[in-house]
Amino acid sequence: MEVLGIDIGGSGIKGAPVNCETGELTRERYRIPTPQPATPESVANTVKKLVKHFNWQGNIGCGFPAVVQNQIVRTAANIDNSWIGVNAGALFAEKSKMPTVVSNDADAAGLAEIHFGAGKDEKGVVLVVTVGTGIGSALFVDGCLVPNTEFGHLLFKETIAEKWASDAVRKKEDLSWKQWAKRFSEYLQHVERLTWPNKIIIGGGVSKKSHKYLSEIKIQTEIVEAKLLNNAGIIGAAMSAVSI
Ligand code: BGC
Repeated sequence: MEVLGIDIGGSGIKGAPVNCETGELTRERYRIPTPQPATPESVANTVKKLVKHFNWQGNIGCGFPAVVQNQIVRTAANIDNSWIGVNAGALFAEKSKMPTVVSNDADAAGLAEIHFGAGKDEKGVVLVVTVGTGIGSALFVDGCLVPNTEFGHLLFKETIAEKWASDAVRKKEDLSWKQWAKRFSEYLQHVERLTWPNKIIIGGGVSKKSHKYLSEIKIQTEIVEAKLLNNAGIIGAAMSAVSI
């Protein structure tokens, strides 16, 4: 089945139709810069533009950078505060006139990695950590997702973990990759002690730069980079909307 997958991020909203049996994009992905301010109305209009671009008729799955519980946005760490309490699924469905499901962006990316990427056929506990502006997490047990784990929001080093160890912080504080890897290792050690995963998969913006830091990460769990890189969010979002 083909589903339109959309990945809503702080700087860009990207989408493509996805073959959910193979995990492949069936058309070239299309990106529209995220409108500023990224209010529910302006983001919904951008989703509508993507739907129009692909002339899409069918199910739509969206990954969204916040806690999404029963389609309702519950947090707004790196998005406009006016999202809190909004039924994002209903809003996008109304704009696009198509059945739409919204899930957390890291959960979506994780789903794609578990089915088609670095977590394929992996049993037991697998943790996907996405690192970009924020830190997202997706926890799987025998391939089943525990949604909205939000390990990027653990209290750590007297702050919120993503405010200390995200890629945005690395850039802002001008940390070398080695310095950042040391921080990120400490953070992962903390998460390791809470979840005891068999494998950690690193996704998000930093996954394509793993040659710069992966060998410097000092943890006891096996750690690998995501395989689907930039497309994981789109593919996983589509997968979550197969049956709606
Ligand atoms: C949000 C998460 C999201 C992550 C990555 C965090 O700030 O709280 O829901 O998955 O950023 O976008």
